[in-house]
Amino acid sequence: MSGGGVPAGSAVRRIAVIGAGPGGLYFAALAKKLAPHREITVWERDARDDAYGFGVVFSDETLDGIAGADPPVFAALSAEFARWSDIDVRYAGQVRTCGGHGFAALDRNRLRAILQQRCADLGVDVRYRTPAPPVTRLAAGYDLVVAADGVRSATRAALAEAFRPELDERHCRYIWLATDKVFEAFTFIVEQHDFGALQVHAYPYSRRRSTFIVEMAEEAWRKAGFEEPAGRETGRGESDLPSVLRCERLLAAHLDGHRLIPNASRWIRFTTVRNASWHHRNVVLLGDAAHTAHFSIGSGTKLALEDGLALAAALHEHPLLEGALVAYERERRPVVESAQRAAQASLEWFETVGRHTGQGAEQFAFNLLTRSRRVTYGNLRARDAAFVDAVDAAFGGAADGGAAARAGTAHGAASAAGSPDGGAAGVPPMFRPLRLGRLRLRNRIVVPPLATFTAVDGMPSGFDRAQLGAQVLGGAGLVFTGMTAVSAQGRATERCPGLWTDAQEAAWRSVVRAARELGDTPLGIQLTHAGRRAASTVPGPDGIGHPLADGWPTLAASPLPWEPGAPPPRAAGAAELAGVVADFAAAAARADRAGFDVLGLQFGHGHLVSGFLSPLTNHRTDRYGGPLEHRLRLALEVLTAVRAAWPAGKPIVVRISAADWAPGGTTEAEAVAICRALAGAGADALDVSTGEVVAHQEVPYGRGYQVPFADLVRNATGIPTVAVGAISGHDDANSVLLAGRADLVAVGRAHLYDPLWTLHAAAEQGYAGPGARWPEPWQPGSSRPPGPGADRVAPRLRLLPEAAAPVHRRWLPADGPAAGSRDEDAGRRDEDAGSQDQDAGSQDQDTGRKPRTEPVSD
Ligand SMILES: Cc1cc2nc3c(=O)[nH]c(=O)nc-3n(C[C@H](O)[C@H](O)[C@H](O)COP(=O)(O)OP(=O)(O)OC[C@H]3O[C@@H](n4cnc5c(N)ncnc54)[C@H](O)[C@@H]3O)c2cc1C
Ligand SMILES: Cc1cc2nc3c(=O)[nH]c(=O)nc-3n(C[C@H](O)[C@H](O)[C@H](O)COP(=O)(O)O)c2cc1C
Repeated sequence: MSGGGVPAGSAVRRIAVIGAGPGGLYFAALAKKLAPHREITVWERDARDDAYGFGVVFSDETLDGIAGADPPVFAALSAEFARWSDIDVRYAGQVRTCGGHGFAALDRNRLRAILQQRCADLGVDVRYRTPAPPVTRLAAGYDLVVAADGVRSATRAALAEAFRPELDERHCRYIWLATDKVFEAFTFIVEQHDFGALQVHAYPYSRRRSTFIVEMAEEAWRKAGFEEPAGRETGRGESDLPSVLRCERLLAAHLDGHRLIPNASRWIRFTTVRNASWHHRNVVLLGDAAHTAHFSIGSGTKLALEDGLALAAALHEHPLLEGALVAYERERRPVVESAQRAAQASLEWFETVGRHTGQGAEQFAFNLLTRSRRVTYGNLRARDAAFVDAVDAAFGGAADGGAAARAGTAHGAASAAGSPDGGAAGVPPMFRPLRLGRLRLRNRIVVPPLATFTAVDGMPSGFDRAQLGAQVLGGAGLVFTGMTAVSAQGRATERCPGLWTDAQEAAWRSVVRAARELGDTPLGIQLTHAGRRAASTVPGPDGIGHPLADGWPTLAASPLPWEPGAPPPRAAGAAELAGVVADFAAAAARADRAGFDVLGLQFGHGHLVSGFLSPLTNHRTDRYGGPLEHRLRLALEVLTAVRAAWPAGKPIVVRISAADWAPGGTTEAEAVAICRALAGAGADALDVSTGEVVAHQEVPYGRGYQVPFADLVRNATGIPTVAVGAISGHDDANSVLLAGRADLVAVGRAHLYDPLWTLHAAAEQGYAGPGARWPEPWQPGSSRPPGPGADRVAPRLRLLPEAAAPVHRRWLPADGPAAGSRDEDAGRRDEDAGSQDQDAGSQDQDTGRKPRTEPVSD
C-alpha cells in the first residue's frame, strides 16, 4: 500500500472509487473538475440503468452547498426538483399542517443519471456491471482509494480493524415503496391499529410519484402478521408483494385509490453505521460506508454528497494525502455526528411513537416536528406562527383536555391552573401556570436542588440564604434548596446542611422567612441520605465527589465501594433501615414547620434509596434485594412515612435516576414501574434525572439528553414529570413543555450563571404577563437595556418592499393531480416547476428559501 506521505493536491493522480452511488459519483466529478489531469476510475457492480430506490429529499441548506460546488449539476437537479414547504401530519383522522420548511426532492435514479452524465462529461471512467477489485489490490495500485460502497461496505468490513465500525441495527421494520399518488407536501401518517402504531413517511419527488416508507415497531409488525410473508424466499431484486398489498389495504384511506409501487422492496431494519476512523493509509470511507443517519431526517444522500465535496476540496487544499484525509475527517465528523444525534433522537421517537398516540392532534404534530431537537418552538414559530399559535392555544386550554390536565385527571396531582392568562394565546408555554397538589405555580420553570457546599456542622449558611433569595427574585415557578441530609451520617460532604436538630430547623425557618420577604415563590427542600455517596469530597468540575479516605462510616444496600480503593459502605441492617425511614419522616415534619411548601426526595444519583433501586448497587438477597418489588421496598417505606409526616395538600416531588448508563442497570421498563409505584405511594411529581449511580457510567451528555426519560415516564404513566439536564435556553424549555414531554422544566446551572434567567427569558420573548413577575423594586430594570448602536437608525435602501415568502407551498405540478387543496400561489408555482432550470440562481425567491430561522445547534 502507498503510505501517508504521498503528495496530494493536484499531485494525487490516480484515484480508485468503489461504488457509483451519489457519494462516489459526486466526489469523482468534483475531484476531476478540480484537477482534470487526474485519472479517476469508478467501479460499480450494478448496471448503469439499474433503478433502485425512489425519491430523495433535500433541505435548503444542502442545496446551497451543491449550488456553490458545481453549478451544472445543480442546474440539472433543479430542473427536476419537486418543491414545497409544508409538512402534513395525519394523525387520529385529522391533518395538521406546518409551513415554512423548504424541501426539494427528486427521483433517486435521476440524481444518479445526472451525476453519471457529469462524470462522463468530465472524463471520469465509470465501469458499470464491474465489481471493484479487492481493496488491497486497489490500494497498492492507486494513490487513493475512496470506498463509497454503501451501508454494507465490503471495504469497511475488510479493514474493520482499522476503521473499527459499530453497526447498530434498530428496532423498527420498514419497507421502502413509491406510490403514484402525488402528495402535496411532506406527509407523516401515524395510525393506531389493534396491532400497534404504524407510521408512514411520504413525500412527492416528481409529477407522478411519491416516496412512501411504511414503518412499524417490531412487536406491532409481528402482531400485524408481516413476519410470515417477510420470511418467504425472494430472489435478488424481488419484492415482498403480499406485504405491499397488505400495506396498500391498510393505508387505502391515504392513497385515494392509488397503488403502492414496489422496487426490490422488502421489510428491513435500519442500521446506524459509525466508524472510529474514516481513513486508513490511502483508503478513505465516504457516504453510507462511513456513517448513516435514519431516513426520517432525510439526510443520507445529503451527507454523502457533502462528504464528496469535502473530500475533493481537502485533496485540493492539502499538499500531503495524509493531511488531506485528516482534514476531511476533521471537517466532516462533527457535522455527521450532529446529524446522527438528531437522527438518533428521531428514530427513537418513531420506535416509541405509541407513547404519544394519546395526545391531541395539535400537540402530537408539534411533538413530531420537534422530535430531533433540532427544530424548536422558536424555530417553528419563525417558520409558521399560525401553526404554533394553534398548538399554544390548545396547550393553554389544557385545563379541560390538554397534556397537563390529562396527567392531572389521572392522578389528581397536577393540572393546568386557571389564571388570568392561563388560556390566552401568545403566552409562551413556560409561562403557563400549573397546579401541583394544592399549590399553584405561576410558571413551569423550576430551580432544581443546587447544593452550595457551604454549611458548617449541618447548619445552612449565609450563602444558602443568599442563593435561595436570589432564585426567588429570579422568577422561577418553584425553587429548591440543595440536598439537605436527614442525619449526620447521610451528608454527602462535610459541607452539606441537614435537618435533624432543632437548631437546624430554626436556621431553615429563618432562611425561609428571609426568602418570603423577597417574593411568594413556592419553596422546596430536598431531603436525602447520601448512602455510599456520603462522606465524600465536595464535587469538582465533573460534578462528582469522591469518597474521603478518612470519612465517617457510610451505609448502603450492599458493601460496594463507589470506586476502586474507596472505603466500602456497610450493608444496612433492618434496624438501621427503620432508623433511616424515621429520620426522613422527622426531617419532613421539621421541613413543614420551617415553612417549606414542597418536599423533594433524593431517590436518584446513587444516594441511599437510589442504591437500593438499582440492580447494579443492590446485591441483597433479603426482602430489600432481588426483584424490583423488593428493591422498591425502602423507597416506598420512606415515601409512605414522609407522606404521613408531611401535610396532605403539600406536594412531594421525587427525583430518580431513570437510567444508570452502565450495562445491567435500571431498564426503561423498571424506571416506569418505579415511577408508578412512587406515584401510588404519594409522589405528586417525578423529577426524572439519570446517572451517578455507578462510577463507571458512560453518559451521552448533550442538549436535553435526559428529556426522553421524563417523556417516557409521563407518557407511559400519566404522572406529571420534571425534565432536567442541559436545558438552558427558553426555546428548549418551551419545546419540551409544548410537546408534552414534561410538565415542568428544571434549569440548574443556567440559574447559577444568571439567577434572573426566568425573568430574562420573559423579556426576551416579549412576555409581561402574570407568569413572570419582576420584584417590585426592580421594575425599572424589567426590559433589556439598549445595547451599543441602539440609537443608530438604518436608512431605507429598497425601492419596493421585498415580497414576503409564502408560508405554505405545496407541490401541485401542472399535469399532476387535481388541485383544490390549500395553495397560496398555485398559479405561479405551476410556472415555476417548468422554469426551475433557468433560474437556479434566483432559487431563494422562487422557493421562499429565505433563512427564516436562526441556526440550530445541538
Ligand atoms: C428507506 C430509505 C430511504 C431513504 N431516503 C432518503 C432520502 O429521502 N433522502 C436522502 O438524502 N437519503 C435517503 N436515504 C439514504 C440514501 O439512500 C443513502 O444515504 C445514499 O444513497 C448514500 O449514498 P452512497 O453513495 O454513500 O451509497 P449508495 O447510494 O448505497 O451507493 C453505493 C454503491 O456502491 C455500489 N457497490 C457496493 N459494493 C461494490 C463493489 N464491491 N463493487 C462495485 N460497486 C459496489 C452499490 O451497488 C451502490 O451503487 C434513504 C435510505 C433508505 C434506506
Ligand atoms: C453545583 C451543583 C449542585 C447540585 N446539587 C444537587 C443537589 O443537591 N441535589 C440534586 O439532586 N442535584 C443536584 N445537582 C444537580 C442539578 O439539580 C441538576 O440535576 C443538574 O445540574 C442538571 O441540570 P442543569 O444541566 O440544568 O444544570 C447539582 C448540580 C450542580 C451544578
